[in-house]
Amino acid sequence: MSLEQRDLFIKHIFTTVAPYVDFLSSGFSFGFDHLWRREAILRSGIRAGERVLDVCSGTGELAFLLSRHVGPQGSVTGSDFCEEMLDRARQKKGEGHANLSFILSDTKRLPFRDNSFDAVTVSFGMRNIPDTALALKEIDRVLKPGGKFVCLELTRPNYRWFRFLYEWYVFKVMPVIGKLVVKAAAPYLYLPRSINSFYPPDEFKNMIHGCGFENIRVDSLTFGIATLYRAVKSG
Ligand SMILES: C[S@@+](CC[C@H](N)C(=O)[O-])C[C@H]1O[C@@H](n2cnc3c(N)ncnc32)[C@H](O)[C@@H]1O
Repeated sequence: MSLEQRDLFIKHIFTTVAPYVDFLSSGFSFGFDHLWRREAILRSGIRAGERVLDVCSGTGELAFLLSRHVGPQGSVTGSDFCEEMLDRARQKKGEGHANLSFILSDTKRLPFRDNSFDAVTVSFGMRNIPDTALALKEIDRVLKPGGKFVCLELTRPNYRWFRFLYEWYVFKVMPVIGKLVVKAAAPYLYLPRSINSFYPPDEFKNMIHGCGFENIRVDSLTFGIATLYRAVKSG
């Protein structure tokens, strides 16, 4: 499959799961996804009044938390390339969250000027972008020098004993439940494969460095099921 075909496949996957994704993400992670997003913001160094871009924002779960965090003097833009995910985000937003907006955009081609944002965040999005380096360079481009990059991603657990249980759960249990709910098998067959085939934390850290960032910190969360990456755009 070419990179373009993989992008189309991934867009199709998210179009299919959009109506169920919030419910299934919370359920499958036993609510840990909410804790990880909160933790990401707490450790991000993002301050009230800052201008933040949340890429691969989906239904806006991280963007809504960021909107409260930066307050009325700040702003948050959520961007995603899947219309159906953005429709959900906009429904959830309603008339509230005046400092938050959503736009349709591919993370590899962001419609913003160079050096526009104080921070760029992404939760559970990077592993879905086959041309990861291109997306990282684009994120780097729109960040101000010294701007913060915060990335939360699902990863393989650190401990061998736990990995066994984890793989049974993500490869056997989740696809069965996912298929029952979504009425399609592909999304929750794709999810565990996408986690296993994405760069391990050390490699991803090197890639972030190679794309123009410094001061890269990597924190393993909940036995390594999720990993938080924080970096700063080189000045
Ligand atoms: C697992 S969801 C995560 C959504 C949200 N960040 C969260 O924490 O719940 C991944 C999102 O990435 C989006 N996505 C994948 N590839 C993308 C790309 N190249 N450009 C923009 N969005 C993309 C998908 O449409 C999907 O909404």
